[in-house]
Amino acid sequence: MSARHFLSLMDCTPEELVSLIRRGTELKSLRNRGVLFEPLKNRVLGMIFEKASTRTRLSFEAGMIQLGGQAIFLSPRDTQLGRGEPIADAARVMSRMLDAVMIRTFAHSNLVEFAAHSRVPVINGLSDDLHPCQLLADMQTYLEHRGSITGKTVAWIGDGNNMCNSYIEAAQQFDFQLRVACPEGYEPNPEFLARAGDRVKVLRDPREAVAGAHLVTTDVWASMGQEDEIAERHKLFKPYKVDRALLDAAVADVLFLHCLPAHRGEEISEDLLDDPRAVAWDQAENRLHAQKALLEFLVEPAYHHA
Ligand code: CP
Ligand code: NVA
Repeated sequence: MSARHFLSLMDCTPEELVSLIRRGTELKSLRNRGVLFEPLKNRVLGMIFEKASTRTRLSFEAGMIQLGGQAIFLSPRDTQLGRGEPIADAARVMSRMLDAVMIRTFAHSNLVEFAAHSRVPVINGLSDDLHPCQLLADMQTYLEHRGSITGKTVAWIGDGNNMCNSYIEAAQQFDFQLRVACPEGYEPNPEFLARAGDRVKVLRDPREAVAGAHLVTTDVWASMGQEDEIAERHKLFKPYKVDRALLDAAVADVLFLHCLPAHRGEEISEDLLDDPRAVAWDQAENRLHAQKALLEFLVEPAYHHA
């Protein structure tokens, strides 16, 4: 199939990614100035959610409406996918009716299989392996607050999970160094690490990872689907809580990001999101703008000028 998909940051060139996040900032400014911009009139996005979501659902749904189109929320409970219709069949049918499909699922292979049989762009709204849309928002947020991330140092603290894997890909695509501090046994996927080579360093000590870093970020200790590991993880991850004192080890103008939802008192201290170095609310808002840029790029590329 010839459609362009966004299953990973590696589906775009570094130039396209920078252009997407710049465009996100432009679309944000249009919206703030009250300018109507509806390049996706009559276009429909299908959104398949096999896991819970607040930000991803809202940002895609609101984004499509703001661009003049519409979005349809599909839960497996209410579609034949939940009753065993093969993914390939669902992809063939859905992609004849929709202009793009966003999927939040467990196995990343579900996304790959859907995309292989889809006539229209497929977007990864989070899988067990990756969360590339969140990285668009994160990179847009860094750019808006601090300028280019090229050559900077980023510290990932905690679980080597889907977000961490996407940071590993971002390090390659946006050209920064990444230090991952995680407990033994919770390292990121070795295939992602191998592809990143010496751009990524895995450490045990969070202070070592944060020392001199320009961006610090973390995520929940147990991701969706790992609910029965929570007690064990909480014991092991305690030394990986990010607090103000840890951020003090970074550069003075460090930025702290959290993809949210946050568990205050677990991966971050109670007060961290109130610290002036934390910009998680801007980051969450940028999901909307960055994904509008992505939708425009995939569905109506003629309008994408950034
Ligand atoms: N950060 C993020 O993807 O949030 P949701 O799970 O609420 O979509
Ligand atoms: N790692 C988290 C991210 C949620 C946005 C999860 O997969 O649940």
